[in-house]
Amino acid sequence: MKEAIKNEIQKLKKEKNAVILAHYYAPAETQEIADYVGDSFYLAKAAKASTADIIVFCGVSFMGESAKLLNPDKKVLMPDLTADCPMAHMVAEGKIEDMRRQYDDLAVVCYINSTAELKCRSDVCVTSSNAVRIVKALPNKNLFFIPDRNLGSFVAKQVPEKNIIVNDGCCPIHAAITRDQLLKQKKKHPSAPILIHPECEPELLEISDVIGSTAELIDYASKSPLEEFIICTEDGVDYKLITDNPSKRFFYPEPHPCCADMKLNTLESILSVLQKENNEVFVDELIAEQARKPLDRMLELGR
Ligand code: 13P
Ligand code: SF4
Repeated sequence: MKEAIKNEIQKLKKEKNAVILAHYYAPAETQEIADYVGDSFYLAKAAKASTADIIVFCGVSFMGESAKLLNPDKKVLMPDLTADCPMAHMVAEGKIEDMRRQYDDLAVVCYINSTAELKCRSDVCVTSSNAVRIVKALPNKNLFFIPDRNLGSFVAKQVPEKNIIVNDGCCPIHAAITRDQLLKQKKKHPSAPILIHPECEPELLEISDVIGSTAELIDYASKSPLEEFIICTEDGVDYKLITDNPSKRFFYPEPHPCCADMKLNTLESILSVLQKENNEVFVDELIAEQARKPLDRMLELGR
């Protein structure tokens, strides 16, 4: 059954000159058939560089929106339009304007996990793999980091020369992982280093060995001579970790962190969207014009 779906997806992809992009948190079967799999930064670059007529984006809505902003003339489809990231909305109404009134030289640094409406009121976007580099490169002294307090606090620690004010949003999946859950795994596997995503709480980052985006954590584990790792992020990364490192062992906090929205990107929904060409992503042109600027600036500074 699954094989028939995969074959049909491959056939339609060719016929329609479509490309499939998937985040590492998408289901394993989706990563298996995707043309490009990666973290948010890699996928934004892949979307921008694509020459396909149709981009099927297996992620959550802010990713589909970003792909559309970077490719206004292409058809961007999402297997499930309800796949959303709760954190992408977590900036209180009027907060950005309040901060701009308080600081003349303020730059609003917007984690890519945010709506197009938030991007269009920001100066630059960042992802978890380029945030420190981009913040360091900005000329402004005062920065307002939205929406993620945990990535914002992590960046603030790495760049103490700037005044970074952090918005109080968070990823409900990463922020729910507790220090005790992590310590339990450490007790069971004392020689395994802890590899953690910066969306986790600071008290977890403190006891970890490597902090990075999904792609950076996978890369670290793949290059390391060690055999066992404690992975503190969404468990979709397991597919790539195991595929590339069949002899190594990976342990996760219990229960495994799982983003239900990312898991909506099933083979069945990909096939359906390729057949019907529905679930197209649209961004209001006035918003798009403004929201594209911080994304383009990120791609420029992140090069
Ligand atoms: P990265 O893709 O930057 O690792 O971010 C993880 C994430 O939560 C995406 O929603
Ligand atoms: Fe959003 Fe968290 Fe899911 Fe990433 S893992 S899409 S930040 S809810």
